[in-house]
Amino acid sequence: MNFGLIIRLVAIVLFAFFGVGFGTGSTVLDLSAQRWTLSSLPLNISVRGRVPSHVHLDLFEERVIGDPYYGLNDFNLRWIVWNDWNYTTKISGLTFLLFNGLDTFSNISLCGQHVAVTDNQFRQYFFNVTDMLARCNNSTSRPELNVLFPSVPVAANGIASQPGQETWPQYVQILFEFANRHFVRKEQSDFGWDWGPGFVPTGIWQKAWLVSLEPGEVHVRNTLLDVYRVGQLPNLPPDQTQDWVLNASVDVLNVVPAGSFLNYTIADAATGEMVSAGSLSNITNPGDVIGGTTVLDQAAYKLWWPAGLGAQNLYTVTIDIISPSGKILASVSKRTGFRTILLDMAEVTDDEIDQGIAPGSHWNFEINGNPFYVKGSNFIPPDAFWPRVTPAKVRQLFAAAVDGNQNMLRVWASGAYSPDFMYDLADEMGLLLWSEFEFGDALYPIAPGFLENCRLEANYQVRRINHHPSLALWAGGNELENLELGILVNYTAEDQFERYRDEYEMLFLETLLPAVFGNSHSITYMPSSTNNGATLNFSSPIPVKERYFNLTSGSIYGNTDYYNYVASQAFNLSAYPVGRLSTEFGFHSMPSVASWRNVLPADELRFNSTTVMLRNHHPPARGLDTANFYNSSVGQGEMTIAVQQHYPAPNKTDAVGNFSAWSWSTQVFQADFYRSQIQFYRVGSGQPNRQLGSLYWQLEDIWQAPTWAGIEYEGRWKVLHNVAKDIYQPVVLAPLWNLTSGLLHVYAVSDLWTEVTGTATISWVDWSGNVLPGIATEGNNRPGVASGANNASNALLVATLTATGTPVNTNATKTYTHTSYWTPTPLSSAALVDPGLAVNHDKVRDQFVVTAKTGTSVWTWLSASLDDDVVVNFDVNAFLLLKGQAKRVNYTVLSGGAEGWRERVTVLSMWNNTLAS
Ligand SMILES: *[C@@H]1O[C@H](CO)[C@@H](O)[C@H](O)[C@H]1NC(C)=O
Ligand SMILES: *[C@@H]1O[C@H](CO)[C@@H](O)[C@H](O)[C@H]1NC(C)=O
Ligand SMILES: *[C@@H]1O[C@H](CO)[C@@H](O)[C@H](O)[C@H]1NC(C)=O
Ligand SMILES: *[C@@H]1O[C@H](CO)[C@@H](O)[C@H](O)[C@H]1NC(C)=O
Ligand SMILES: *[C@@H]1O[C@H](CO)[C@@H](O)[C@H](O)[C@H]1NC(C)=O
Ligand SMILES: *[C@@H]1O[C@H](CO)[C@@H](O)[C@H](O)[C@H]1NC(C)=O
Ligand SMILES: *[C@@H]1O[C@H](CO)[C@@H](O)[C@H](O)[C@H]1NC(C)=O
Repeated sequence: MNFGLIIRLVAIVLFAFFGVGFGTGSTVLDLSAQRWTLSSLPLNISVRGRVPSHVHLDLFEERVIGDPYYGLNDFNLRWIVWNDWNYTTKISGLTFLLFNGLDTFSNISLCGQHVAVTDNQFRQYFFNVTDMLARCNNSTSRPELNVLFPSVPVAANGIASQPGQETWPQYVQILFEFANRHFVRKEQSDFGWDWGPGFVPTGIWQKAWLVSLEPGEVHVRNTLLDVYRVGQLPNLPPDQTQDWVLNASVDVLNVVPAGSFLNYTIADAATGEMVSAGSLSNITNPGDVIGGTTVLDQAAYKLWWPAGLGAQNLYTVTIDIISPSGKILASVSKRTGFRTILLDMAEVTDDEIDQGIAPGSHWNFEINGNPFYVKGSNFIPPDAFWPRVTPAKVRQLFAAAVDGNQNMLRVWASGAYSPDFMYDLADEMGLLLWSEFEFGDALYPIAPGFLENCRLEANYQVRRINHHPSLALWAGGNELENLELGILVNYTAEDQFERYRDEYEMLFLETLLPAVFGNSHSITYMPSSTNNGATLNFSSPIPVKERYFNLTSGSIYGNTDYYNYVASQAFNLSAYPVGRLSTEFGFHSMPSVASWRNVLPADELRFNSTTVMLRNHHPPARGLDTANFYNSSVGQGEMTIAVQQHYPAPNKTDAVGNFSAWSWSTQVFQADFYRSQIQFYRVGSGQPNRQLGSLYWQLEDIWQAPTWAGIEYEGRWKVLHNVAKDIYQPVVLAPLWNLTSGLLHVYAVSDLWTEVTGTATISWVDWSGNVLPGIATEGNNRPGVASGANNASNALLVATLTATGTPVNTNATKTYTHTSYWTPTPLSSAALVDPGLAVNHDKVRDQFVVTAKTGTSVWTWLSASLDDDVVVNFDVNAFLLLKGQAKRVNYTVLSGGAEGWRERVTVLSMWNNTLAS
């Protein structure tokens, strides 16, 4: 032990402590730097606590509990959730307490005096405790700050059982592990979801501070920047020739002296070069918020574009609050970008109908006035415990999305509002974030107190986030109109449809919409993630009027959401929805054994072991108010049937090998199904529905479980992520097979904004790699039905495209190539042969080289040896390899890797996966 070091540390802590409260300037003490105690008197637990954190994380850190993600700990640790917890620290002479997030209910006290109770994870809270601190000062020890977090399920059940409390028809509230989540302003998936555990964590989950202010001093607690075109209104296309307006509005602690004003500077974030400076005009200053605006010459600013469509030009805006005497009271800097983003829901015009677009309404995004094809996925909370989500983790996920040719993520509505660092990364990396208020798969109370709580939450979040150019949209919540109102209410209580629609409008139109439109001219708002569009009337107090189910046959309106667990229908294109944009679609698959090994004991590494089964939360329990119920065997069964119907079933003698082969096969089915849909949706961009987007469910995992994710919790790509990367390239071939007509159409699809020209070559090969002279393509059936054609089980169609086009917002032309294939029978009845695969690591070029010596290899798959404990992603994987081809593959290591792991990388294909050993 180094004694000297300890003395130095103590000295620093004391210095930091006594620094507070001295001097005349404002003082801000980061509560993370304080010594905290986490305790429960009834449980006789008292350990070190942290801020920001959650009770589970601190108990884990202090070894009171094991890894919450291990085994059945999601059930075994329920005792934490049903108990209350105190976070306690000692403070001294300061005036304001400022919390960026208290999860969820809290009771705050200072030296035994009550400060406040809170009831919303998503609000910022601040308290003037000047008087209370003065009353503490008689004590010899420093005053104690205590934040008590009562059990959330106990509180939720208490609210639900209040006399006269609102109720809903059976089945409407979709519940997972705990009841009554809809009464609580907390991450809804904390109560369990079909892809995640229900830990219901509590704690001071965001940063917190003690702020000491003299009269006349202010402290910035939140800042709104709104950058929009002159004359722009939300939800409407702006005039792209107009100058920019900068509207700034700064929320402060204490009072901004009358007569204060705002100065601004704008600098290019890349070069630091100053572009503009001056004073804002039209100052408003009611005291705790000061605002002003200015008009900026549009010629001076380069536009911000999403990935694949141009550069991510960013600017740093600094706003100074200046006192009447010219003193800078506070200064705040935000990085922003100049862009317009619109969700266009306008009616299809007669001219457009003449061009071949189906009547109805648009439902597509426009960046800087240009409609573009949205490619992406849905983002869920990357961890059950947000305090341990690091910028590095989010950067890794976003890098995978951008590398996967995605330009938008839909940040799903029942997690948490994304932290600033997430938007900052998205701004830099060019990922648009379709953002949502945290309401989903339920109807919500309309008690005045609840609505007011939601209004304050929305107002804070909209103001915090609005400056990010990556912010693409605000939606009120998840699956509310189509599922909640359209299906669930009508299922059991159609006669009450109007009542629940009106209640829905009180929250999603009358409460949340004004929070967006009252703060922002730049962002589109819509109440529900999936909808049939709306009409606009800005002379009405609520300018958005939802279309709901007032549809005209033959017309196409909104976006779509599609799930079908009948595996035999997976490749039936006529079952897919025809809409303007696809917001959700998917099927679950198993994570790899490498991932399972981190949370399962060796004897549970089986497809239907207890923990594996209990982590399959599909389908959810419906209407069971005492939750904790999943019919897990259904979900495991659906994956099994899908594999059996479409692929040769693995039957390995080694138990872990068989588990691995089955898990991988479920991933292949998932990827195959998503590819089929993404191809279909992209082809729709040139069809009457003018389909302009595909966002699959879901980008990444929250934990290790059978889920819809394409990226495992550790960051490893499932088959899906590789396949989506392939089919999301700008120019691709898409073979679409019509099950009814028996015809295969091979489309070339481009999402570039200018014409692409090229050649597609189509040929047939057999599994031994011979090129076939051309076989009849008519009369073959897929899936399932054995056809009269002799060669159907020994043939695959290989289509290769070489095309020349110009990437969006560039001048240079580029060559695009893409290879696709199609088999006339499902692989389960194909006459697969050993393709003779081999992989070598080329040390000189640091690449893997994969060859197929004896046949055609489909789903060619590289993976690291389990024992090497490496998380590695290959830049191409799950690919077609023709006989004699050598494929060079680059890779990225995310973590781990025993010495020499590269030499132990293996390659398999669908053929190998079915071998007995
Ligand atoms: C939390 O602290 C308060 C004040 O000391 C105490 O009355 C209460 O019993 C504590 N609760 C728990 C769960 O420890
Ligand atoms: C000292 O403060 C405590 C509260 O912390 C209060 O109960 C007590 O009455 C105070 N004593 C005096 C003498 O003011
Ligand atoms: C904080 O409380 C003190 C004591 O009541 C009061 O003098 C001061 O004006 C308050 N500050 C604000 C900004 O309300
Ligand atoms: C505020 O900006 C004006 C120009 O509009 C400038 O004259 C003044 O010096 C600035 N004040 C401060 C404190 O920077
Ligand atoms: C400032 O207010 C005036 C009228 O009060 C208005 O004409 C002008 O457009 C406003 N400027 C900005 C930038 O909003
Ligand atoms: C639900 O019922 C209402 C009232 O009958 C009706 O207007 C609406 O179209 C129905 N929704 C669906 C999707 O059928
Ligand atoms: C239904 O939509 C049509 C136009 O699409 C509109 O004219 C009509 O008023 C709507 N009906 C209702 C009840 O909103």
